[in-house]
Formats: sequence, structure tokens, C-alpha cells
Amino acid sequence: MKNLQPRPKLSLFGELPQDSRKENKDQVRTYGELSVGGPFELVDTDGNIVSTESLKGKWVLLYFGFTYCPDICPEQMEMMASVVDIAKEEHDIDVVPLMITIDLERDTPEVLAEYVAEYSPKIIGLRGTEQQIDNVCNHFRCYRSKGQAYDDPQDYILDHTVTQYIINPEGKTVGYFMSNRNLEERVPIFLDHVQKYNEHKAAMSAKENVQPSILDSVKQLIGLSSSPAS
Ligand code: NI
Repeated sequence: MKNLQPRPKLSLFGELPQDSRKENKDQVRTYGELSVGGPFELVDTDGNIVSTESLKGKWVLLYFGFTYCPDICPEQMEMMASVVDIAKEEHDIDVVPLMITIDLERDTPEVLAEYVAEYSPKIIGLRGTEQQIDNVCNHFRCYRSKGQAYDDPQDYILDHTVTQYIINPEGKTVGYFMSNRNLEERVPIFLDHVQKYNEHKAAMSAKENVQPSILDSVKQLIGLSSSPAS
């Protein structure tokens, strides 16, 4: 049964090239979940709990960083905001962008709130206890290491993994962007994941709806069915 789900439009960057799946094979293998990620429960800058449970039903982009990051994080935050805006404006897909700070010491709720707002009012800055941040970092294999502070103990750098994760409405990590992916690549990769997810969902429900009637027809054909008489 072919699914009837409409394909997402790709107006900004044109049609997805035929061989895009081959091109993006590192990140867009098949419909499926990656082995990274896992349930988490953190707190936003207003004190609300944001968890795997509260995010169910939504597409999520997840990024680990810190507000004092001199150049890598700002670029990643900008791209995250752009992917979210393009998904909404051109494809009507709602995406929740999350930035988890790995620098609890300096990224107070106020600092974090101000920082994420610079990039997008949609980005949610998340904090937690050291243990909660450790756990979520471990789930997503985010490496972080505090560099040496010299004159000022508050003046340090955090070395960290620069990866943005794509989490589907069921809370499963289905893809990621390495730091070197530019925006023109990220949008079609993301849309491809949405399309695969929708196709998968459509195929699953088609299977549920159609299978019994096919079975009935076959039964009738081979004379096993009693339905016409009964
Ligand atoms: Ni950074």
C-alpha cells in the first residue's frame, strides 16, 4: 500500500536531489532511531520542567553549549533558530529548539534566558543539577571539559562536542548535525527525517486499516469466508 502522505515542500532550497539520500547517508540512513539519547528532565529559565514526557508529540532540536562560548556556539545557535523558522514558515512544521547549558556555574537562569533570546524567542534554555546535566550529556555522548582559568577564575573555556540532535515526536533521536553542516544542508536533512517519520506513520496506520479487508478478500476468493452468506 503506497502511503498518501503529502511530501514536504522544499521551496527555499529547491527539490531534494535524487541522490540526496546517498549524499547524506551518514545522517539519513533509514527510518530509524539512533542509539544516542535517552529520557531527560531539566528546568527552563522560568523554572518549568521540560522533559522527554512534556516534549512528546513535538519535533525537537537539541544542542549542548554555554553562553560564554566565543564562536562555535553562536554560529550553532543561529543555525538552530534558522532551521526552526524555515520549518515553520515554509513547511508548517513546529520544532522545539532546546539549548542545554553545560556551564551551570556561569549560566544562571537570567544569563541563559538573555542569551537564548538573542537568537530566537523560541529557543528554550535548559539547566539542571550537575547530576542531571551529566546524565543527559552521557545519554547524548556529549563530551565536555573545563579548561584552565588564569587570572580570573570565572574566565575559562569549556571544550565540548558540537552536535545538534534531531528528536522525533516519540522522543527518539533520529539524526544529528555535526558542526560542519551548513544551513543549506540542515534544512533538507531535517525535512527528510520528518518525511520518513510521516511515511512510516502512514504506512503503519494503512497496514492496520487495510490488512483485515485484504485478508477478508483472500478468504472469500479461496472460499474460506462465510461473510456473504452470514
Ligand atoms: Ni561552544
